[in-house]
Amino acid sequence: MKLGRMNHLGYAVPDMGAAIAHYRYVMGAQVITEPFDLPEQGVKVCFVNTPGHEGTEGTQVELLSPLDENSPVTGFLAKNPLGGQHHVCFEVPDIDVARAEFEAMGKRILGPTRIGAHGTPIFFVHPKDMLGMLTEIMETPKEAH
Ligand code: CO
Repeated sequence: MKLGRMNHLGYAVPDMGAAIAHYRYVMGAQVITEPFDLPEQGVKVCFVNTPGHEGTEGTQVELLSPLDENSPVTGFLAKNPLGGQHHVCFEVPDIDVARAEFEAMGKRILGPTRIGAHGTPIFFVHPKDMLGMLTEIMETPKEAH
């Protein structure tokens, strides 16, 4: 396994509009994408860019709200009504190699490799095998490097 850049932190939010306003007006975010639906994952998604230092790429906060009561975020918000950190996402150079390595280590992968919110392949690893943190593994976008 070769750990890459931390691409984003995923935050579940009960109210997408209120969360965007928080990042814009309380935190001073300059770049926030338009929210869009990701029906395969049952969520509405919006990215808040955090700038990097000179010459380095920043990272992002991914705001997640449920599309319906079957969404994986619905249960999370039932336990955490204010919202909170839902997952962390790290990049890897090759998604198939990373998946095979996690499987060889006996880590439980949740579902198939699929296309994530950045249009690149991702999979999730069970929090019980990842120090309690639901972990998204994402192939580095080709245009980024
Ligand atoms: Co994510």
